[in-house]
Amino acid sequence: MKLYRVKDYDEMSKKAASILAAQMVADPESTLGLATGSTPVGAYRYLRKWYEEGILDFSGIKTMNLDEYRGIQRTDSQSYYYFMKENLFDHVNILAENTHIPDGEKADADEVCRGYEALVREAGGVDLQLLGIGRNGHIGFNEPADHFERECHCVDLAESTIEANKRFFEKAEDVPRQAYTMGIGTIMSAAKILLLVSGEDKAEALYETLCGAITPQVPATVLQLHPDVTVIADEAALSKFERR
Ligand code: F6R
Repeated sequence: MKLYRVKDYDEMSKKAASILAAQMVADPESTLGLATGSTPVGAYRYLRKWYEEGILDFSGIKTMNLDEYRGIQRTDSQSYYYFMKENLFDHVNILAENTHIPDGEKADADEVCRGYEALVREAGGVDLQLLGIGRNGHIGFNEPADHFERECHCVDLAESTIEANKRFFEKAEDVPRQAYTMGIGTIMSAAKILLLVSGEDKAEALYETLCGAITPQVPATVLQLHPDVTVIADEAALSKFERR
């Protein structure tokens, strides 16, 4: 595991975008695993900028997103489908048919999850998977549990996740209670993983992820077992290491 300590969110975002860009240049037909939430917004901003400057070409790139709320319309501004269009896809020359997000509009969890897992496999797996982390240590929407869920599945969101994500909604009751997510096995099958962590509210989760025992109660700890993980964390996220 490689750990980069950076000053702040912007430095984290620029470095993350550089790693994603390097992947795209090295293999213009890469499959990128993408995340949503506050963490990757800055990195997507850099990717858009470098596309506008003619540095990056998305025409051969395929993307597989980690997750989507269940029971949400794609036109809903809180859907991850909408998020990806707004933050990246609508601003670069990626082909719509090359972008993939679990279909939150479909209620049949088995169909959505089996289909999505097969799609990842058909794409030949993910070359570089971008991850954020929840305060409770979740990756994708793999919430703390008694076992690691291997494949794409439907999950009941943890109270702490609903609490954390209510900032995007008008009120907590509006946060969907379920989501479709890549499983831990799906995530771990990516050739490379890039984990971004910013802010003091993630310090405990990051400390456990890097130094704690591997446990499904802190799902990100499983990353200790992956052979090619890069972590970019800012000073605030690393504050727990400094205190110890
Ligand atoms: C989002 C995702 C989640 C987030 C995590 C952190 O696609 O899979 O695991 O990365 O909840 O969210 P933010 O970045 O909003 O703090």
